[in-house]
Amino acid sequence: MPERTWIRWPEGRGTPFGYGADYNPEQWPRETWLEDVRLMREAGVTIVSLGIFAWSLLEPRDGAFDFSLLDDVMDLLHEHGVAVDLATATASPPAWLVTAHPDMRPVDAEGRVLGFGGRQSICPSSPVYRHHSLRLVRALAEHVRDHPALALWHVNNEFGCHNAHCYCDTSAAAFRAWLRARHGTIAALNDAWATSFWSQRYGTWDEIVPPRLAPTFCNPGQQLDFFRFSSDAHVEQYLAEAAVLHEVTPDVPVTTNFMNTGGTKWLDYLGWGAHVDVVSNDHYLQEPSPHPEAELAFSADLTRGCARGKPWMLMEQSTSAVNWGRINRAKDPGELWRNSLSQVGRGADAICYFQWRASSGGAEKFHSAMVPHAGSDTRVFREVTEQGRRLAALAEVQGSVAANDVALLFDFEAWWASELDSHPHNGFSYRREAERLYVPLWRRGVGVDVVHPDADLSGYRLVLVPALYLVADGLAPRLEAFAAAGGTVLVTFFSGIVDVTDRVRLGGYPGAFRDLLGVRVEEFRPLRPGCAATLSDGSRALDWSEDLSAPDAAARLTYADGVLAGRPAVTRRQAGAGSAWYVSCDLQPDAAASVLDAVLADAGVTALAEADDALELTRRVHADGRAYLFAINHSGADAALHAGGTDLLTGAIHEARVVVPAGGTVVLRTGG
Ligand code: GLA
Repeated sequence: MPERTWIRWPEGRGTPFGYGADYNPEQWPRETWLEDVRLMREAGVTIVSLGIFAWSLLEPRDGAFDFSLLDDVMDLLHEHGVAVDLATATASPPAWLVTAHPDMRPVDAEGRVLGFGGRQSICPSSPVYRHHSLRLVRALAEHVRDHPALALWHVNNEFGCHNAHCYCDTSAAAFRAWLRARHGTIAALNDAWATSFWSQRYGTWDEIVPPRLAPTFCNPGQQLDFFRFSSDAHVEQYLAEAAVLHEVTPDVPVTTNFMNTGGTKWLDYLGWGAHVDVVSNDHYLQEPSPHPEAELAFSADLTRGCARGKPWMLMEQSTSAVNWGRINRAKDPGELWRNSLSQVGRGADAICYFQWRASSGGAEKFHSAMVPHAGSDTRVFREVTEQGRRLAALAEVQGSVAANDVALLFDFEAWWASELDSHPHNGFSYRREAERLYVPLWRRGVGVDVVHPDADLSGYRLVLVPALYLVADGLAPRLEAFAAAGGTVLVTFFSGIVDVTDRVRLGGYPGAFRDLLGVRVEEFRPLRPGCAATLSDGSRALDWSEDLSAPDAAARLTYADGVLAGRPAVTRRQAGAGSAWYVSCDLQPDAAASVLDAVLADAGVTALAEADDALELTRRVHADGRAYLFAINHSGADAALHAGGTDLLTGAIHEARVVVPAGGTVVLRTGG
C-alpha cells in the first residue's frame, strides 16, 4: 500500500507549508491567468484547488471530454511552482445531464424538486449520477495521472452542503436496502422504531418511506435512521470516487472538504475521517456567534478529532466577508492571520481559501478572495502576501501534533437524535451545549481534543461529556474505568438518555450514567424564556433544570428557589481514584466557568502556559521533543505570555516572558 498520508508535493519542491485557494481560471481570460501565477508567487501560494465546478467544461456533451483548458492551467501552475489539488468536478452536474435525467434531482421532505440553476442538484442515491460521475472521474484521472503538478485529489465538494437529505423514490428504495442491512428483519426494525406506538407497525419493507412531511411528528427512529442512511449515502459516493482515484493514481492522496463549521451537522465527519487520506475542512466565521473565535477553535479541534490527532488541511475560509450572511462583515486588519494561526495551532498544516480571485459574475461575486475586485493594491492582498511569508516561516511545525489533557466527547448521531422534535425543550442545541463547556477552557488557555466517544481516553486527565443524549452501551463502563484509574469526568444535563435506537434508558435519568454519577433524575424541568433557576452560590441557570437526588454523590451546588429549592444541582461523586461530576442545569457562562475551575483543579489540569486572559493559546509537539506554543492576542491591548523560546515569526529569542502586541501573535519554539 503506497504511503498516501499528506500532500504529494512535486519532486524537488521540498515540503512547503500548504497555502492557497480554490482556483477557478475558467471564469477568466487567459491574460488573467498570467497575472494570477505572478501574484501567486508574490503571495507565496504553494497549492490551489482546481476544477471544483468544472464538469460542464470538462464534459460539455455526454461522453465528450475536453481537458485542454485543464492541461494548460496545470502546466502553467507547475511552471510557476504551484501544486494542484485537483477536484473530481462532480459537485455540480451539467445542465445536459440534469435535463436528460430529471430523476437525479433531489426532492425535499415536502416533495419539492430542487432543480438545476443553483448547484448540487443531485440525489445522492441516483444511479445515473453515480454512473456519470464515476465515468468523469476515471477519464480525468487517466488523463492527468502523470502530470507532475498533481499533488492531491479533491473529491466532489462539501458533500451534502445543499442536498444532505433526499426524499425521492430512488432514495426511498436505497433507504430500504440500508434498513435491511442494518436491522436484518422487519420485526427487528419494528422493535427498534417502537412502531407499536401510533399504529406504525410495518408488515413488509416496501411499506417504508423516508420521513416525508406527515400530519404530525414522524417516528423518531425512522428519522434517526434516515439521517444515518443519508450520511452514509454521501460517504458511499466519496468511496466510489476515491476507489477510482486510488486505482488509477495509487500514490496520490485523496481528500474531500468537510464542513465542521457552526451548526453544520448532517454528515458524520468523525466516522468519515477514517476513510480519507487527508482530512480537510472548510470554516467560515459564524458572525452571529457570541464568540466567533472560540467557535472557530472548537471547529478546528473537532476537525483534528476527525483526523484522529494527525495534521489536517484548512481547505476553505474567507479572507474577509462572505456573501451568504444577512449582513456580511468585512474582517478587520490582522483578523485574517489570527484566524489562520488559530487553525495552524490546532494542527492545520495547510491554509487555503475560497477563492483565489473574486468572481466578477455569478452568485458568489461579493464573496471575498485572496485577490479582491480592487486588485492586488489592497489591504487584503497585502495581508495575504504577509501571511504567505509567515506560513513559510512556520514550515518546521508541519507534522507536529497537539498534546492536550482534556477530551470533549462529541458525536454526530447524538447531535441528530438530541435535536429531534417533540423533546422536553425544543430550543435545545447540542453544539451550543458543547461550546458552553469548551469556551471557558478556550478562554483559560486549556487545550481540548474534541473526539468521538469511542476514542482512546487513556491519555487524558479530564473527559467532558456535554449533553450526550444518545449513548451506546459501552461508554458508561469505559468512563467508570477511566475515573476509577484517577481520571475526572464531567457530564452535563440531557446525557445518557437513550440507546442507539432512541429508546429511553429506564429507571431515571441520566440513564446510562446514573451509576457513574451517583445521581437519579426523576423529572426534567425545562425553563421558559424569561425564567431562571437560582443556585446556592447566587448564579443562574436558564432553559433547563432537573428534579434530582444524589444517593451516591455530594451536592456542590443546590437549587435555591422554586419547587427545586434545596435539591442538588451540581454534584460530585468520588469514583475510585478519580471523580465524576454532574451538572443538571444550563449554567450561564460565569457559573459554568467557576464549576469548570473546580473540575480542572480536581483533574490537575492547567493552562498550556501562564498568560494574560486576552491570549488564545495552543500547543503542538513533535515526536523528537520540539514543541511550539502559539499565542493569539484577540484584544486591543498588549498582553503578556510567561514562556520562553524562539519566536518563529520574528526570530527573536525570549527568556521567560513575551509581550504579544494588541491583535498580534507569537509562535514560540519551546523545546527540542
Ligand atoms: C463553500 C463552498 C465554496 C463556496 C464557499 C462560500 O465553502 O465549498 O464553493 O461556495 O462556501 O463561502
